[in-house]
Amino acid sequence: LQDSRIRTPPADDLDALKRGLEGCRRCPLWQDATQPVAGCGPRTARLMIVGEQPGDQEDLAGKPFVGPAGQLFDKLAGEAGLDRQAAFVTNAVKHFKFLPRGKRRLHQPPNRQEIDHCRWWLDQERALVKPELILAMGATALESLTGSRKGLLARRGRVEAAPDGTPILIATHPSYLLRLPPSERPQAEALFRDDLKKARQMLS
Ligand code: URA
Repeated sequence: LQDSRIRTPPADDLDALKRGLEGCRRCPLWQDATQPVAGCGPRTARLMIVGEQPGDQEDLAGKPFVGPAGQLFDKLAGEAGLDRQAAFVTNAVKHFKFLPRGKRRLHQPPNRQEIDHCRWWLDQERALVKPELILAMGATALESLTGSRKGLLARRGRVEAAPDGTPILIATHPSYLLRLPPSERPQAEALFRDDLKKARQMLS
């Protein structure tokens, strides 16, 4: 593994950070992905939303949460009165990890080392945006931000602190909601909406 810190000094703006990310060789995920997907949104955002990693569509578009999970997020955020455009939306891991299956690319969860290597980029985004609140969606974001991915369903709806003290509001991931059987989805979506409303209220 090469250490991209050697070639990538800490960036002083989000565009420079994005350019630096394009040369990231911290872990092998860059090799098969189309491109890295940097976070997106205003530098002045009070809320940072952190997901897992780009999916198939995000990998092609170069933007976070534009595929099915992003569309569900947008719908539920709209219902909760949370303005996504005002938030900085990003991922714990910046490259799409997948297994090729014919014409399809099957999502693979990032492992501990990949999450640890990519935290450098998330930390850079956090240092530039300085959000008042971070919404961690799913176990990978939770692990990256708090050091532990255990007990997501018991921890959702709670606020924990990142090592630097930033409040982390915990939620499930929209892809998890998409995978639930139809009988379980309305209740899980209602809880997710509650978490988004809580984020809105914490910033009001
Ligand atoms: N899932 C994520 O965690 N992030 C994205 O950007 C898209 C899907």
